[in-house]
Amino acid sequence: MKLHGTMRINELGHLEIGGYDTVELARNFGTPLYVMDEAEIRRVCREYRAAFTDGFGAEVIYASKAFMNLAMCRVIEEEGLSLDVVSGGELYTAIKARFPASRIYFHGNNKQPQELRMALEYRVGRIVVDNFHEMTLLNDLAGQMGVRAQVLLRLTPGVEAHTHEYIRTGQIDSKFGFTVPNGQAMEAVKSCLTLPHLEFKGIHCHIGSQVFDMSSFNHAAKVMMEVIKDIREQAGIAVEELNLGGGFGIYYVEGDQPATIAEYAQAVTSAVKEMVAKHQLNIPKIMIEPGRSIVGEAGTTLYTVGSIKEIPGIRKYVAVDGGMADNPRPALYQARYEAVVANRAAEPAVETVSITGKCCESGDMLIWDINLPQVKSGDIIAVFCTGAYNYTMSMNYNRLGRPAVVLVNDGRADVIVERESYEDLLRNDRLPERLRVGQKIKLVQ
Ligand code: LLP
Repeated sequence: MKLHGTMRINELGHLEIGGYDTVELARNFGTPLYVMDEAEIRRVCREYRAAFTDGFGAEVIYASKAFMNLAMCRVIEEEGLSLDVVSGGELYTAIKARFPASRIYFHGNNKQPQELRMALEYRVGRIVVDNFHEMTLLNDLAGQMGVRAQVLLRLTPGVEAHTHEYIRTGQIDSKFGFTVPNGQAMEAVKSCLTLPHLEFKGIHCHIGSQVFDMSSFNHAAKVMMEVIKDIREQAGIAVEELNLGGGFGIYYVEGDQPATIAEYAQAVTSAVKEMVAKHQLNIPKIMIEPGRSIVGEAGTTLYTVGSIKEIPGIRKYVAVDGGMADNPRPALYQARYEAVVANRAAEPAVETVSITGKCCESGDMLIWDINLPQVKSGDIIAVFCTGAYNYTMSMNYNRLGRPAVVLVNDGRADVIVERESYEDLLRNDRLPERLRVGQKIKLVQ
């Protein structure tokens, strides 16, 4: 078990994050509670910039789908990273947070006309075109609006990343992007160059997420550099920008051995340099789009233990006040997590239990088989590494309100997303006149 970021165990034997006792966090803000360690997020941003930007002039773009809200956009802007958005909603949030539009990249495999129009109105830096339908649509919209869209084309390089199949995207059989090996990618570049309202700036790929094997990134970069050579030969232009996507894997449980960000940078930049030398190419501007690795280890979810069910000789279920609604990843990807009893964090483990949620579903499990001190009702459980794709994938199943998110730093905690109230859950419900209490029921004859 590993402590992350600014975590420590304090004099009371409690887990502390950002200088704030997690037992106090639970008392002051309630549970379930997402806790984000601001110093850790900023530290990782700086590590990325040092590895990619300082040495190689690369642009680091935070993939906001991992964790996004107004405060997070501000942190990313302050750290000098750019932003990847994939929907009108993410774009709207970024704009409301006054994130500079020129540093926004707009992704997605089925962007709607109104989303593209919005992106053009705000003058986002780049629109990453995914398919021929979008290419024509964007060209038409830009023409109508009298602007020229600066675009990257998303390509599928045919590189298999070693990760869960639901989060693999580089293989040929993928819904994303123009396929490289069958020639579709080159066809797309040529079409793009003929369209008057699109300005072709470069190419993009993303091979998958939670990738540990740096050779996959190295391989993808080489394939993309080959494409750049082919584009020079077949279309006569030097590609200016190469966006290599995100996907850098992080630690979740013992045995996970992520590479360092410096090793990641080395894998990518050495591939680019090698291919530049081999084919005498211009060095394109490199971009990467980390999401999970910026926020994953900075996030912890706090829960309160309620019921405990022991089936002798089989299993002990420890139920907490959240579950798959605030963290669907175990149910979706068999994702695994580590946890501690936050109010007795220094005590040795004495039993193996399974942590379940409060949703009406047997698949609502957070952790199967974890060794913990004797767990009692009322204990606070802290599940680690929940910063990425937890809050953003949370849901209201069973009409559970989404938990609050607090940002902790240096002994202070600020709510950056409020807990959803019962009223919030009803906000979009509408009751037609005929269903209102007291209305006469008309029987259909
Ligand atoms: N760029 C593009 C185009 C992407 O599609 C993604 C993630 C990223 C960057 C960021 O990848 P990261 O550095 O976070 O691995 N919900 C899943 C992960 C889905 C990732 C989707 N795309 C999960 O919970 O594991």
